[in-house]
Formats: sequence, structure tokens, C-alpha cells
Amino acid sequence: MMGGMAGLEGVEQPRQRSSASAVRLTTALEDEQGLSAMELYGNPADDEVTLPSLPQSAHEARRLTRYVVVRLWGLSPQIAEHSVLLVSELVGNAVRHTGARSFGLRMLRRRGWIRVELRDPSRGLPCLMPVHDLDTTGRGLFLVDKLSDRWGADLLPRGKITWFEMRVADRQNA
Ligand SMILES: Nc1ncnc2c1ncn2[C@@H]1O[C@H](COP(=O)(O)OP(=O)(O)OP(=O)(O)O)[C@@H](O)[C@H]1O
Ligand SMILES: [Mg+2]
Repeated sequence: MMGGMAGLEGVEQPRQRSSASAVRLTTALEDEQGLSAMELYGNPADDEVTLPSLPQSAHEARRLTRYVVVRLWGLSPQIAEHSVLLVSELVGNAVRHTGARSFGLRMLRRRGWIRVELRDPSRGLPCLMPVHDLDTTGRGLFLVDKLSDRWGADLLPRGKITWFEMRVADRQNA
């Protein structure tokens, strides 16, 4: 019995080591990509940053969002995953539904909350649609509605800001 257990441990340990190294590598890569996106566009937690309205800008917005949430604000991987997913949906909407040449990304932190804002130049409002099992579109805002604690769109004289907020647990010494 003991021999069998020892054998199993022998199989498991290298796997654990390799998955730990994979996580470290992924984290290092994400940090590097986040930092280079910051160098290119600026820090959305300091001031609004402008990204071109291109499909690949969703990658840049995700990298910036992850870096701010995890590295600058020290929040949990789960908050990072959700923010990154929702920011992609807002970027996808700005790119596909507004015809804008660029959009603005801004991130704000208050005690117990984070807020992510996407500004675009269209005064057309986002519209949450009922989602059915076989629907292949119309899911973006449904996800935003499910995973955020609050979301909305505020009209501006030219354009609008679509935003979402999430409750977060503040670190003791944050
Ligand atoms: N930034 C925006 N400006 C103007 N209209 C928007 C914007 N975002 C969303 N909409 C409108 O709201 C609808 C619902 O958006 P939602 O993201 O839920 O679905 P979708 O973009 O059509 O599909 P999916 O996100 O699943 O690819 C869109 O079809 C569009 O009409
Ligand atoms: Mg969408």
C-alpha cells in the first residue's frame, strides 16, 4: 500500500512542478505584456488612455486591465478575470457598434469598489437583450450584467461612457 502511494507521489510531483512553472511563466508574460501596453498607451488608472478602434485593441485593453487590477491594485485573480472579460465585451461593442476611430479606457478605484469606463463617440445606447440558448450574439451585455455589480451608460455631449463596477475586498493595508 505504502509502496503504491509512494509510486503515485512520484508521478504527481513533476506534474505539480511543471504546472507551477507554467503559472509563473504565464504570469511573467502577462506582466511583460501589461507593462509594454502601459508604455505604449499610458496608465488607465491615472488618466483616460486612447486606443485605436481595431479588433486587436481588445488584447491591449485586456492587458492594461489585468495589469492594473493585479499589479497596481493587488486584487484577486478572480476580479482580474472578470474585469478582463467584461472590458473585452465593452471594447468589442465600441469597435463593432459605433464606427468610432478610437475609444477611451479609464479605471477607477474607490474603497470597496472598482470601476471600468469605456468612452466612445456614439450617442447610441447599449441595449441589454434577453439571451436564449441558441443565440450566438447579444451575449456581451448579458455577461456584463451577470458578472458586474452595477453597470450603465452615461450620455456625454458627444458620445457616451459605458461602465461597470465591481465590489472588491480591500486588503488590510491597502
Ligand atoms: N457601445 C455601444 N454603442 C452603441 N450600441 C451598443 C454599444 N454596445 C452595445 N450596443 C447595442 O446593444 C446591443 C447588445 O450588445 P451586446 O454586447 O449584448 O450584444 P452584441 O454586441 O450584439 O453581440 P455579442 O456581444 O454577443 O457579440 C448591440 O447589438 C448594439 O445594438
Ligand atoms: Mg457585444
